[in-house]
Amino acid sequence: MKVAMLTSGGDSPGLNAVIRGAVLNGTIRYGAEFVGFRFGWQGLLDEDMVPLERHDVRGLSKQGGTILHTSRTNPVDASNGGAERIQAMFDRNGIDALIAIGGEGTLTAAHRLSESGLNIVGVPKTIDNDLDATDYSFGFDTAVEIATEAIDRLRTTAESHQRCMVVEVMGRHVGWIALHAGLASGAHAILIPEFPQSLEQICDWVHQAKRRGRAPVVVVAEGFTMENMQAAHSHKGLDTFNRPRLGGIADVLAPMIEDNTGIETRSTIIGHIQRGGVPSAFDRVLSTRLGMAAADAVMAKHWGQMVAVKGTDMTTAPISLATANLKRVPLQRYDESRLLFG
Ligand code: F6P
Repeated sequence: MKVAMLTSGGDSPGLNAVIRGAVLNGTIRYGAEFVGFRFGWQGLLDEDMVPLERHDVRGLSKQGGTILHTSRTNPVDASNGGAERIQAMFDRNGIDALIAIGGEGTLTAAHRLSESGLNIVGVPKTIDNDLDATDYSFGFDTAVEIATEAIDRLRTTAESHQRCMVVEVMGRHVGWIALHAGLASGAHAILIPEFPQSLEQICDWVHQAKRRGRAPVVVVAEGFTMENMQAAHSHKGLDTFNRPRLGGIADVLAPMIEDNTGIETRSTIIGHIQRGGVPSAFDRVLSTRLGMAAADAVMAKHWGQMVAVKGTDMTTAPISLATANLKRVPLQRYDESRLLFG
């Protein structure tokens, strides 16, 4: 059996460990042959492929990024020729199956192509941890670790100056990174897209922390928006939310907090640092197991399925389930953390 792999969408610490897990399990246990398309679906469309042998993946589990590179190309775009063109290319190159490692966009494309008859198995990937049908996605633990360390560092400088710090973490649609990093670092407010908060409430949390003699730390997910604020119009600076902006939400929120509380406030956007560098030990183990499970799923011909984690077990689920709904932070989890702000 000849198996192709690709990594697509935003990178996530652990991608290389997935590749290694799949190649080692596939070659050692099943005698399969592996190739990798470079730059995600773009490499597949361009037939830009490299062999993936055992020696190519040795020592990879601790390496960040992806040796196959990535892009955000959509393969189901009509202008690309769609499924028929890809199947013809597979036939030409003797490729029997594809392991697609990616997030929402990649898995949606993988699902469509698999419905058109291509032999595809998915591996869920996102640092945001918002893909349904899996308890965890790799890269999330590393991102939380990096964000937590950054917030801990910001806290000491904030304490020195008795300032308020607004720290923006990644999370386009959901607040899992903000929730976990905020909880881990003892933030005084955590703002996530799932649960609107008024500016009044945010300033109240900031005041309460200040009254307790602390330098207030507000952790905000990048996806928290004006629509989430439900703010009263009397608050100063609210109009700035409606203007097009280059910076993140933290840059907008910080002056509003300063204006409304009188507490000197600074903003920090942690950004892509959260996706860089070596994966955590947890992510290395998770990614390796997902990669190994993906090779098992290919050999079992579980087409249209993706590998997933349920509790501590590896399982499979229809790819369509992962993308049907976002996995949002439930109210109960947010309430746990909110209790600690006051
Ligand atoms: O989905 C993962 C993610 O890291 C989001 O948290 C973030 O909004 C986005 O990707 C950033 O994408 P890019 O690397 O293309 O700027």
